Amino acid sequence: MSTNPTAYDFDRVIDRRGTGSLKWDFGQRLTGRSGLLPLWVADMDFEAPPEIVEALRARVEHGIFGYTLEPDSWFDAAAGWLRHRHGWEVRREWMLPSPGVIPAMVFAVLGLTEPGDGIVIQPPVYYPFAHRIGANTRGVVGNPLTLSGGRWEMDLEGLEKVVGERTRMLVLCSPHNPVCRVWDRETLLALADFCLRRDIVVVSDEIHSDLVMPGFRHVPFASLSQEAAACSVNLVSATKSFNLAGLGGSLTIIPDAGLRARFDAVQHSIAAGPANAFSAAAAEAAWRRGERWLEELLGYLQANYRFLAGFLAENLPPVTVAPLEGTYLAWLDMRALMLSDDQIKEKLQRNAGLWLDEGRMFGQGGEGFQRLNLACPRAVLTDAAERLVRAFRRG
Ligand SMILES: Cc1ncc(COP(=O)(O)O)c(C=O)c1O
Repeated sequence: MSTNPTAYDFDRVIDRRGTGSLKWDFGQRLTGRSGLLPLWVADMDFEAPPEIVEALRARVEHGIFGYTLEPDSWFDAAAGWLRHRHGWEVRREWMLPSPGVIPAMVFAVLGLTEPGDGIVIQPPVYYPFAHRIGANTRGVVGNPLTLSGGRWEMDLEGLEKVVGERTRMLVLCSPHNPVCRVWDRETLLALADFCLRRDIVVVSDEIHSDLVMPGFRHVPFASLSQEAAACSVNLVSATKSFNLAGLGGSLTIIPDAGLRARFDAVQHSIAAGPANAFSAAAAEAAWRRGERWLEELLGYLQANYRFLAGFLAENLPPVTVAPLEGTYLAWLDMRALMLSDDQIKEKLQRNAGLWLDEGRMFGQGGEGFQRLNLACPRAVLTDAAERLVRAFRRG
């Protein structure tokens, strides 16, 4: 049976080597080994939607690439997308274009906290959060997720214990990378309630919000209530959903005028922007014409997930995979193999030539896990699944 009976060809294997791809071209430099199959960093081995490639082609053919600002139509397209996909009404004045989600998180850290302040993150979580917070002389306050019965949860009681006088901010990852959770309204309401009581600004990284599997629903943090909106800095982008990471660009949404002014002052002070002519054209095309592709992508990713989970259950039962609610990053529990993280990495890379992201990089709670990028053609995933089995077969 074809895995792709639809309009877009996600089965096609495209050689990305030689394009300066972080994922495919830097194995030797980053791991010291060559020829590894790379299913680590979060970009996709699929071509961007033809609707976007067409918009970029038209932009290239114009031939002049001068200073660019996001036009009104870019803001309208973003607002339309957020309303339609997520039921979130975003006003024009709340929106600020930013160079990327992580740069925007750093601007929020710099503009809304002081050196030495504490910022909560909930590991295991996207590791640049901790690195960037630390690099900007703020304290990382860890409130690890809990795992019970195979389900990862936010530790709302833990928050009460770790938050101190100088804790000013919490960086939320929603959906949560890794662990594949799409946070439900009740959890987010409880989080918002806590942060409002303790006067904590929430930076809500929602870069994965379009990558939500059928049956789950992303709830934008700022859509919870006016109060939640007023304490939040919200980060979204078309780059993750539509495989445009190499173009950069993101959208920062800050409903509160005071927070917005402080954030914007930092963006200006370091002369961030203006827009990249290509990222602006691509994002607008994505938001206006990308939905059909996205829907098909989600179906393909879910089928890839089911294939991997089934394959492991049959061929490598000690390794289990967390339920995929959102993102395209499978979270593999290898603790039952009873190996150290170094041994797991060595076996994956040396025995099987497979390059995954080590769970321990994502902080406390990630030990014994590996993150595997499902956004690849089924043939590549099948190869990876067979390599996983091979990795742990030999001594
Ligand atoms: C949770 C999360 N935030 C941010 C980013 C990166 O965003 P940007 O490339 O816009 O800085 C990623 C990329 O994987 C991510 O997973």
